[in-house]
Amino acid sequence: MTGKARIAVLISGAGTNMAALVYASRIAPCPYEVVLVASNDPEAAGLKLAAAEGIATFALPHKGMTREAHDAAMEAAVLKAGADHIVLAGYMRILSDGFVERWEGRMLNIHPSLLPLYKGLDTHARAIAAGDSHAGTSVHLVTPELDAGEVLAQIAVPIVPGDTPASLAERVKLAEHQLYPRAVADYVSRWRNPAWLLDQLRARALALPETCEQESFGSAGFRVGEGKSGKYFAYFADRPHGHERIALLVKASGMDELHALVEDQPETYFKPAFYGARGWVGIVLDRPDLDWGDVEAWLQRSWRAVAPKRLTRLMDVAEEF
Ligand code: GAR
Repeated sequence: MTGKARIAVLISGAGTNMAALVYASRIAPCPYEVVLVASNDPEAAGLKLAAAEGIATFALPHKGMTREAHDAAMEAAVLKAGADHIVLAGYMRILSDGFVERWEGRMLNIHPSLLPLYKGLDTHARAIAAGDSHAGTSVHLVTPELDAGEVLAQIAVPIVPGDTPASLAERVKLAEHQLYPRAVADYVSRWRNPAWLLDQLRARALALPETCEQESFGSAGFRVGEGKSGKYFAYFADRPHGHERIALLVKASGMDELHALVEDQPETYFKPAFYGARGWVGIVLDRPDLDWGDVEAWLQRSWRAVAPKRLTRLMDVAEEF
């Protein structure tokens, strides 16, 4: 799959951030499209705009419903629209843990403060009262704890003399309208960002015993063992020679396995130039459905294939327990 991410935007009010997300999605190339705008308030102004833009809408007042039942109805609408990410844009509801957990890593929020400062409500009044030089806005992943998920992007906005919470909120929104579309676009397309892929790979490769990173012909390489006796067990190859994709090169058990993998799953595996002849297999990393568990298993296998015996023996013993 290399299509666009499909986002559902949840709003409670004006929906100006939702509008910014929609209009940014109309400027090519944008890696997401807005497939639903949903609200807990049928009167939310943003719903009318979304409908006028030809976007599916859904509204359900929460009054008289349990939190779980209301969340379930919102989630059903999101699923019906075929959304793969939920983007909260001024959705003024605390979400139930189950809902948040089901969308872990696929639900983003924008919060009008420089998190971790001023979680919750009245952020601008609190920043002014504290005499802060700056307020700001943060885009973060949603986790069950309120406004505490990983911060993906922030912009600081100066507080000027005479600012009221309302005047500051208006200026912070200008920043939000720039920040949110960019942060959402970066997040949903991170699977094809070489810097992000290398970070992910590096963390996993260097978690294995006695490993270090050493560049090899301009690519990041990962070695096991001490000093000169160390050996490479993995290479990060950003569009390697003769190939369009971003890949990990690891040791296959031999040429038979290498050829079988390439034949059975040509979308995932390939025989790299030069290295292929020595039994290294290329694994395509820039796939939205990449399973990092598989990558970890390959790194371990390859590490084992070249690691000194004293280390693999220790691993064998550890695995017996
Ligand atoms: C935005 O400033 C957003 O950061 C804030 O509500 C406003 C919604 O404006 N969100 C929160 O306070 C969440 N705790 P909008 O409806 O015009 O996009």
